Amino acid sequence: MKKLLTFCLIFISTILFSQKYAEVALTPPMGWNSWNKFACNINETIVKEVADAMVTSGMKDAGYEYIVIDDCWQIDRDSIGNIIIDPDRFPSGMKSLADYIHSKGLKFGIYSDAGIKTCQGRPGSRGYEFQDARTYAAWEVDYLKYDWCYHGKQNPEASYSLMRDALALAGRPIVFSICEWGSNKPWLWAKDIGHLWRTTEDILNCWDCKEDWGGMGWPLILDKQDGLEKYAGPGHWNDPDMLEVGNSGLTFIESKAHFSLWCMLAAPLMAGNDLRNMSEETRDILTNKEVIAIDQDALGKQGFKIIDEGDFEIWKKPLINGDIAICLFNRGKKTIEKEIIWDELNISKNFEIRDLWMKKNIGKTNNNFKTEIVSHSVVMLRLSLKKL
Ligand code: GLA
Repeated sequence: MKKLLTFCLIFISTILFSQKYAEVALTPPMGWNSWNKFACNINETIVKEVADAMVTSGMKDAGYEYIVIDDCWQIDRDSIGNIIIDPDRFPSGMKSLADYIHSKGLKFGIYSDAGIKTCQGRPGSRGYEFQDARTYAAWEVDYLKYDWCYHGKQNPEASYSLMRDALALAGRPIVFSICEWGSNKPWLWAKDIGHLWRTTEDILNCWDCKEDWGGMGWPLILDKQDGLEKYAGPGHWNDPDMLEVGNSGLTFIESKAHFSLWCMLAAPLMAGNDLRNMSEETRDILTNKEVIAIDQDALGKQGFKIIDEGDFEIWKKPLINGDIAICLFNRGKKTIEKEIIWDELNISKNFEIRDLWMKKNIGKTNNNFKTEIVSHSVVMLRLSLKKL
């Protein structure tokens, strides 16, 4: 009888809690994360000022909502296992910071690790999953990025499921961002565990540099996304990593191409620059609502490559109501001149064409489209069946 009761209890709690919150990421999450620009040099003043800038720059109006503190906010655990916040960098504590961010109409995100330590050697959540999840819920956290350093022999699916269950049991809807770098093909197992999963090692602030440990520039990350489109959809997204738009290693043109292709991929759009000091050009990239609409399209389809001629690629993304996004990408060093014959791309004559960076309607698909694409740039188009 006792055994039966225990079995029933386990069964009921499995049904109740082994589910992620379904409604929190029906479109790819949008926000800002501290890592790409600040790494460990983060503190509550910067985070508050970035939250202010997210509102005053127009980013909030463009759809960005999460302010996420990455690694290095935690220093230790107390005698009963509670995580200790770095008192020098975050003297007011996380609840107060969450209140500030919420008062701006934004949401608050935090970072931990499934192993015993974070990638910067701070305490990880291994063995403290339920305690940490309760703490995050008490702080009113809305987003958790959960890394994969110091995992030893842990099984990734089990480790991420455990934190998903802990978050569910803590009772607060929290976006769960899986960051295990694609090492164990999370697209095959993470759909019901997290809302997004990293597909590669870290993005770097450069065009196509590559580090031995796996970090790379965004065009190299892009190459690894093609073929993963079938695994993404509302509530479960491939994550090609946070944006480097506006950071020093990319030209304006390269940042624009990076943003365009991330939107083609239905990627989570987590800005990684200093929002407090961004140039007008960077702000115009990050807040182009028509390009963002491609990313956030309700159909939730990830774009894919339909033409690959080496330096020249065409990416396509199906959109709601039969519309289509097309991105022409020149990865080479010289300007490319192209004449697009729509028929050859299996695109009918009935579409109106809008150039999303020029913000101009440029004709219909009943005519061929001649264009020049300068080195490292894109031409991004929305083909629409409705009159534009
Ligand atoms: C890993 C992640 C990065 C970042 C750092 C922090 O490398 O992939 O995105 O969170 O850890 O240490």
